[in-house]
Amino acid sequence: MSMNKTISPPVPDDVLISVRGLKKHFTVKGGNRGRELRTLKAVDDVSFDIRKGETFGLVGESGSGKSTVARLILRAYNLTEGRVLFRQKDESIIDISDLGDKEMRPVRREMQMIFQDPYSSLNPRMTLLDLIGEPMVVHGYSKAEIADRVAELLSCVGLRPEYAMRYPHAFSGGQRQRIGIARALALSPAFIAADEAVSALDVSVAAQNINLLQDLQEQFHLTYLFITHDLGMVEHISDRIAVMYLGQIVEMGETDRLFARPRHPYTEALLKAVPQPDPRQRSTEKRGVLKGEVPDASDPPSGCPFHPRCAYASDRCAAEKPLLRDVDGLQVRCHHAETLTLDGVGA
Ligand SMILES: Nc1ncnc2c1ncn2[C@@H]1O[C@H](COP(=O)(O)OP(=O)(O)O)[C@@H](O)[C@H]1O
Ligand SMILES: [Mg+2]
Repeated sequence: MSMNKTISPPVPDDVLISVRGLKKHFTVKGGNRGRELRTLKAVDDVSFDIRKGETFGLVGESGSGKSTVARLILRAYNLTEGRVLFRQKDESIIDISDLGDKEMRPVRREMQMIFQDPYSSLNPRMTLLDLIGEPMVVHGYSKAEIADRVAELLSCVGLRPEYAMRYPHAFSGGQRQRIGIARALALSPAFIAADEAVSALDVSVAAQNINLLQDLQEQFHLTYLFITHDLGMVEHISDRIAVMYLGQIVEMGETDRLFARPRHPYTEALLKAVPQPDPRQRSTEKRGVLKGEVPDASDPPSGCPFHPRCAYASDRCAAEKPLLRDVDGLQVRCHHAETLTLDGVGA
């Protein structure tokens, strides 16, 4: 097994999932009117630890590689390179990077996903009993056990147990999200990845469901990977945040520190894109506001991939790739991180 091949530092006691040097490369058609095969580095050397009981936020514009990271951790995709280490219930560490389907099965119980679109991720022909109980059927529970558990799960997510015989169309978007959450909880997982889970909901409904997720986290000692393109969404729920751009982490650290004083121009720009409820706090400066589109990931810019959109870029940025390094308690991938004074939000 690969565990012997890789000599890697031990996983700290407080860590549930350790992602190390993760890569996922796709072969896509590009250039020369689509006749050229290119390598698209959807995830390109990503490393982070998710601590037990915390919420780890993963943010970045669409196409930055967030969903691919989640799919790699849950082993919905095979890894191109890297390691995913997972702490099991008995505290032992398992390297799941190249486990087959059968070996992954007991681990899959522990890792669940909540999706963005509650409309398309729930089979309209199944009752809530069947939808929420389905993962239990696969694991061989009896009908009576499943009925009891589904009733319990429905009340956990703030829905009435009598709803078990209804179909998803009878429910609102926010309620359907709760059905998805109940289903994710069915096998008592340790870890849940929420991929743009509340992004499609109205602000007030999204806030209610975020509160629900936080209550459930406390009640069941859950660890979350919370993925969103909206940095404003993660401020209150995440303990730590990683910001991704074109398959790489460009900034990572404690949420409060990162919001108060970001060190990467991309983070500053994402923060400025967050709508401020108080007009006096709204940015009137053009500086740092995101310009242009996300580049084609199969043909990224030279040097720092963010440099064509960066308000602070120098010649060095176009020529030399920055490394992720420690700057004032954050990890930052920017040549000028020490000298820039960027705007944060809050106190
Ligand atoms: N199955 C795939 N085949 C080819 N390219 C893919 C595939 N899945 C994702 N990509 C590409 O990988 C990059 C990252 O995608 P994704 O992880 O979905 O980003 P995000 O979730 O941040 O929007 C994008 O450029 C996307 O087009
Ligand atoms: Mg995505």
